[in-house]
Amino acid sequence: MRTQVVTGRKRLALIGANGMLASMVIKMTPPDFEILAFDLPDFDITDREQVLRMMQAARPQVIVNCAAYTNVDGCESQEELATRVNGDGPGYLAEAARGCGATLVHVSTDYVFDGRKQTPYTEEDPPNPLSAYGRSKLRGEEAILASGLERFFILRTSWLYGPGGKNFVETIARLASERDELRIVADQVGTPTCTEDLAKAIFNLLHLAEVAEKDTRPAPYGIYHFSSAGHCSWHQFSLEILAQLRQAGIPIRAQRVVPLLTREYPLPAIRPHYSVFAKEKYQQATGAPIPPWQESLGRYLSVYHRQ
Ligand SMILES: NC(=O)c1ccc[n+]([C@@H]2O[C@H](COP(=O)([O-])OP(=O)(O)OC[C@H]3O[C@@H](n4cnc5c(N)ncnc54)[C@H](OP(=O)(O)O)[C@@H]3O)[C@@H](O)[C@H]2O)c1
Repeated sequence: MRTQVVTGRKRLALIGANGMLASMVIKMTPPDFEILAFDLPDFDITDREQVLRMMQAARPQVIVNCAAYTNVDGCESQEELATRVNGDGPGYLAEAARGCGATLVHVSTDYVFDGRKQTPYTEEDPPNPLSAYGRSKLRGEEAILASGLERFFILRTSWLYGPGGKNFVETIARLASERDELRIVADQVGTPTCTEDLAKAIFNLLHLAEVAEKDTRPAPYGIYHFSSAGHCSWHQFSLEILAQLRQAGIPIRAQRVVPLLTREYPLPAIRPHYSVFAKEKYQQATGAPIPPWQESLGRYLSVYHRQ
């Protein structure tokens, strides 16, 4: 019997392929991967039979799940739908990954925590979500953990922004060009994360797993926290966005950014007051540098921001 040497690229099934993070994953994909894109309306992660059948047909080596119901406030009135998309869907993907021997990368959130800590959250800290979105995302993590899949990364991230999505940076830039004064919450502290950095982190972890498996060492699968380095409030984030826009010579109308308390700006979903991540696990595993949030913001504004 002749052995056929397959030199083809690794197939990466990208789920939620039309979303903000997924568009950056496509851009940052190393050349040894071939992207197979899946999203609504042709592919629905809440349809277990469809997920299993289509992943079986595609036979990916890697599944990256960027699909989610991400309207945090909308989840409060649509918790059943949020739970199906964010809670059940990842479980079906894990089942499919197990069936075709693929590694699953799933993206989760800082909103699984209640924010009562005052020091950075580690992967061992117990989650306690305050919102329907947080509960649904935690359920997705639990579904993966319960699936029996061994090759998975659950990558929790926070305050994500990037091109191709509705993001805080663009909202602030637009408002600052329209208004004299912005009013921004100052008592929620976290860390902004640019999709470019997160997409790199995804491929760093996949590379690590591949190298470990080739060396027949145990690959460091599991839960990881990833955001930029440092922390700030939404108010401080806004000030930095305006400062960098001004520095780039972009005219800004807003003269003042007034700090608000969360209770002065009530929204349907309760957010954690503090959701900074400890990222030592990721750093020790990959050895990769994590840029400060101000530096990543500067890169985003110079490369992706459009007036
Ligand atoms: N954005 C943030 O600030 C943030 C923070 C922390 C973590 N995260 C996590 O990061 C990941 C990526 O977020 P993102 O901001 O890039 O999301 P996004 O732009 O909202 O993209 C999500 C994609 O998933 C698709 N989708 C929704 N329901 C689906 C279903 N049932 N089946 C298949 N696809 C479906 C959406 O399609 P439609 O647009 O047609 O619905 C969209 O294309 C998510 O897991 C999110 O929870 C985000």
